[in-house]
Amino acid sequence: MKVAVLGAAGGIGQALSLLLKLDLPAGTDLALYDLAPVTPGVAVDLSHIPTAVKVTGYGKEDLNTALVGADIVMIPAGMPRKPGMDRSDLFNINAGVVKTLAEAIVEQCPKALVGIITNPVNTTVAIAAEVFKKAGTYDARRLFGVTTLDVIRAETFVAELKGKNPAAINVPVIGGHSGTTILPLLSQVADVSFTDEEVAALTVRIQNAGTEVVEAKAGGGSATLSMGQAAARFCISLVKGLQGEAVTEYAYVEGAGEYARFFAQPLVLGKNGVEKLLPIGSLSAFEEKAMHDMLATLKADITLGEEFVNKQ
Ligand code: NAI
Repeated sequence: MKVAVLGAAGGIGQALSLLLKLDLPAGTDLALYDLAPVTPGVAVDLSHIPTAVKVTGYGKEDLNTALVGADIVMIPAGMPRKPGMDRSDLFNINAGVVKTLAEAIVEQCPKALVGIITNPVNTTVAIAAEVFKKAGTYDARRLFGVTTLDVIRAETFVAELKGKNPAAINVPVIGGHSGTTILPLLSQVADVSFTDEEVAALTVRIQNAGTEVVEAKAGGGSATLSMGQAAARFCISLVKGLQGEAVTEYAYVEGAGEYARFFAQPLVLGKNGVEKLLPIGSLSAFEEKAMHDMLATLKADITLGEEFVNKQ
């Protein structure tokens, strides 16, 4: 098995690569690629950790070598937010980054499972899909926007509020990955009840959790450590799926399209990526309204990505 991390020298990339060095199955090749000159050094650093995962680092000119034969590609390459920015402000820089990387995936590992972390995820996943489609390699089961951070944040905040063990809490989070498009389904959390005020406040906190980190880091970037953990969890689930285990995760994928072309939803992972889409279940009146109100934003974010590729 080969896993490539693109943007591996960044805040998320380094945390993710560390966790993958620790947690990938023995015998896995872990290929780290980044434009930053430090990348081979990050790989040497990680290679001193005694696990049976072989780490190699690739600089600017070596994207193709980093990708060739990869089974899984995780992409945290690109600019993070600074205070006052929302994720759509990152479009101008990150759209081109994801397009370039997706074009290289087409050439080197068209069958890889691809997890996109680069924001704005609502749009960058559409960009990758259109690049793959144009090249004739698109398989919707193999492309994911990584929204695991929204899920782990929701579980942490609910556990904090209710005095529970976060490991025992499951919170479905559907929709997209920015602002109001992030929709936690608090009505579906088992064995916990909320007042209407709690639902309203928690929903907003989960939607703005990224901004909470951006402001606390005061110009030093956005979530990297919690995102590294979230991305590692998702990547390990992809690995387990490839190994034939049925694993349930939430991710932003092209599904049946009843809400928007891409939509974060529960799914079962398997040997070909998405093995099965699971129903989102029943929504409370509050959640129904929130879903209705955010769909236009989500659809516009998707169209922006589609047009970025197709109008060139
Ligand atoms: P960072 O600035 O620490 O690292 C980004 C890395 O990408 C840098 O090392 C940079 O050299 C590299 N890079 C830039 N262009 C590249 C290219 N063309 N090829 C290869 N590498 C390239 O940023 P950080 O904090 O790691 O964030 C990365 C991305 O993840 C941002 O877009 C951020 O908004 C996003 N993010 C996504 C989250 C999610 O839930 N999906 C959560 C938090 C951040």
